[in-house]
Amino acid sequence: MADKKALLTIEDKQLELPVYSGTLGPDVIDVRSLTGNGHFTYDPGFVSTASCESKITFIDGDKGILLHRGYPIEQLAEQSDYLETCYLLIYGELPSKEDKEHFEKTIMGHTMIHEQMVDLFSGFRRDAHPMAVMCGVVGALSAFYHDSLDITNERHREICAYRLISKMPTMAAMTYKYSIGQPFVYPRNDLSYGGNFLHMMFATPCEDYEVNPVLARAMDRIFLLHADHEQNASTSTVRLAGSSGANPFACIAAGIAALWGPAHGGANEAVLKMLDEIGDEKNIDEFIAKAKDKNDPFRLMGFGHRVYKNFDPRAKVMKETCDEVLGELGLADDPMLKIAKRLEQIALEDDYFVSKKLYPNVDFYSGIILKALGIPVEMFTVIFATGRTPGWIAHWHEMISGDYRIGRPRQLYTGEAKRDFVAVSDR
Ligand code: SDX
Repeated sequence: MADKKALLTIEDKQLELPVYSGTLGPDVIDVRSLTGNGHFTYDPGFVSTASCESKITFIDGDKGILLHRGYPIEQLAEQSDYLETCYLLIYGELPSKEDKEHFEKTIMGHTMIHEQMVDLFSGFRRDAHPMAVMCGVVGALSAFYHDSLDITNERHREICAYRLISKMPTMAAMTYKYSIGQPFVYPRNDLSYGGNFLHMMFATPCEDYEVNPVLARAMDRIFLLHADHEQNASTSTVRLAGSSGANPFACIAAGIAALWGPAHGGANEAVLKMLDEIGDEKNIDEFIAKAKDKNDPFRLMGFGHRVYKNFDPRAKVMKETCDEVLGELGLADDPMLKIAKRLEQIALEDDYFVSKKLYPNVDFYSGIILKALGIPVEMFTVIFATGRTPGWIAHWHEMISGDYRIGRPRQLYTGEAKRDFVAVSDR
């Protein structure tokens, strides 16, 4: 029940709107009664709109706080691992030792995809963008795994969740191997989640590939830092697709499509392309000026965020991981890293960025780590999608297992009023 009320006066009418308080964050005003009073709310881009109630992730943008089921991202990055975080996001609690082992065994026991799905890849051009392939192959999962697609069945929802978390790295690595004309590498269930991914990406039948534990841990942490992020554009897409009753594989494919944009998950790829275009520290000032120029569409990729008006807590951990990986690989003097660090320092001192509270976000350093790991730029958003899969699933499951309605926003119509058709002979 609402414990507070908001009063809205429209012409001679006064409306009482219920106000709800959450555990953390701003109160929300329930505007559902407005339609009955002949009005809609208007909020393009949903800057001020809470689309749902959720218990999964909380972000405080001003304080740079990110909690997954109440646990700070810094503690999870430091003390947990990706599969344990997947379990936490989906089930709401950290697993017991036995549950953790069972979950890991189950996930690592379903890493292969249906052998017939291998033929799907040959339908794509080798130079297709990996995200185009991922949209297609993930969407096709419902053509191969239709034995458990009853979304009203809790066990079916769990099976779909496990299949997606298990198989995303396999499909991601296959997308890469296909693009370079190398044979697919089957998953290795004796390796860690991050180690198995690196093995599928870089092993070949010609020689043994030894997984570097530092790099495997870094890969695991990159997946973990991308695992969930409240009602972002791709998660909201998954929820909207799911609200129509679409199967979970189709919903995740929709989330992958939304993530692809450079304003969202495509930013890590765009950061590397931007650093490449800057090329040298002496060119930084020119690009900072372009980013500040209202008439120039260029934006400093990896900076700014709809919610964070302080440091993105993930960016801080990503920066530490970046130093670890480049140190391990002897790339501490990587010129691109130098440009990135100089760019960050200037942006954090420049009044334009300070006044608009534009801080580095999760994408700013992730691309540098991925490039150091030998992952091509076009694969960066595929990595993001793989990491974000448990978050998408957790939100889809939270919605489907509760009361929900099909999402159907309204609009402010500014088109033509009614007019009669004119025959072409009279035009
Ligand atoms: C992700 O939502 C999530 O949680 C997303 C994400 C997740 O985990 O799911 O965190 C992942 O998408 C991170 C963001 C990655 N995108 C980028 O790094 C692309 C560069 N950033 C911008 O495109 C932008 O900052 C957004 C898209 C991230 C945020 O856009 P908003 O909230 O709509 O902000 P805005 O465009 O209204 O910008 C406010 C002002 C504008 O200037 P004014 O009109 O007020 O004069 O800041 C300016 C913008 O021009 N601005 C920038 C800028 N970002 C915003 N100017 C230069 N460079 C930038 N990067």
